[in-house]
Amino acid sequence: MYGTVKNKKEYEQTIQDLTLMLLYLTRVSDNNEFCRYRELSWKGYDFEVLNQLENAQLLWQPQYRRGYEKYLYLTEEGRRRAQELLEEYSFSDKRLNEKFEFRNILPEETEQAIEIEKICFPPNEACSAERMRERILVASELFLVGVDRTSGRIAGFLNGIATDEYSFRDEFFTNVDLHTPNGKNIMLLGLDVLPEYRGQGLARELVFQYLRREWNRDRKMVFLTCLKPKVKMYEKMGFRNCGLSESSWGGEQWYEMNYVLNM
Ligand SMILES: CC(C)(COP(=O)(O)OP(=O)(O)OC[C@H]1O[C@@H](n2cnc3c(N)ncnc32)[C@H](O)[C@@H]1OP(=O)(O)O)[C@@H](O)C(=O)NCCC(=O)NCCS
Repeated sequence: MYGTVKNKKEYEQTIQDLTLMLLYLTRVSDNNEFCRYRELSWKGYDFEVLNQLENAQLLWQPQYRRGYEKYLYLTEEGRRRAQELLEEYSFSDKRLNEKFEFRNILPEETEQAIEIEKICFPPNEACSAERMRERILVASELFLVGVDRTSGRIAGFLNGIATDEYSFRDEFFTNVDLHTPNGKNIMLLGLDVLPEYRGQGLARELVFQYLRREWNRDRKMVFLTCLKPKVKMYEKMGFRNCGLSESSWGGEQWYEMNYVLNM
């Protein structure tokens, strides 16, 4: 397969690069409060290559008494290198980022957010126009919007408020004065994706980028409540199901879920 030593080296490097990229692309969120790395990848690659990547400090393979685990963690350097490689090789997991711009909400986008909320939630669950206006005024830094780069309009958004409390209560939906900008924790108040943009991974990307942003802001935990059919969706995004919540928002039965960012 390779004729010269130079080619052999290149070949080995290529296998390492491809392995790192695959590990990166198939990573999943890990809600493991004891590990400082937040995403794990399942092993299924040449062990020698994995060891080489570990020696280069691009990943970490947890090892216990009975030997290696079946998963590993990419280090921050590993993640950075994988992203660089994806660009070098012109593979991109940036499909969504090319299609959507992710950023804080702008004041002039308030009416769009209100409209989207009406489309996404039934009246008993939706945030009212008045409350949405207040929330954007007071806590715009806790909105993350995905804006369609072609139309310049919001396709989906996620919003929350910060607090030092450790449990969800319905007043977070209605009383924006509970927002404590430097609070340790985030209470998520709504995840909305317009119907025409659903099924492309936009909600997942919004949650992923939101968690990363709040992790960088040194928040400790993120809480949300959801109806039973959404529990699995949030579990796949790394949240832990804490069972039935105290909430009776909109007359429904809610589950409380949380995500540990920093301990
Ligand atoms: C729920 C909602 C945000 C999903 O948006 P989306 O962009 O289509 O979601 P994604 O494409 O990112 O899907 C992420 C994962 O969630 C799952 N999922 C998506 N919509 C789901 C739903 N309605 N019920 C259960 N799981 C769902 C997907 O199967 C996907 O899993 P996968 O990665 O294994 O394929 C969107 O349908 C919406 O805005 N609905 C109305 C408002 C709402 O219910 N918000 C959530 C409140 S708790």
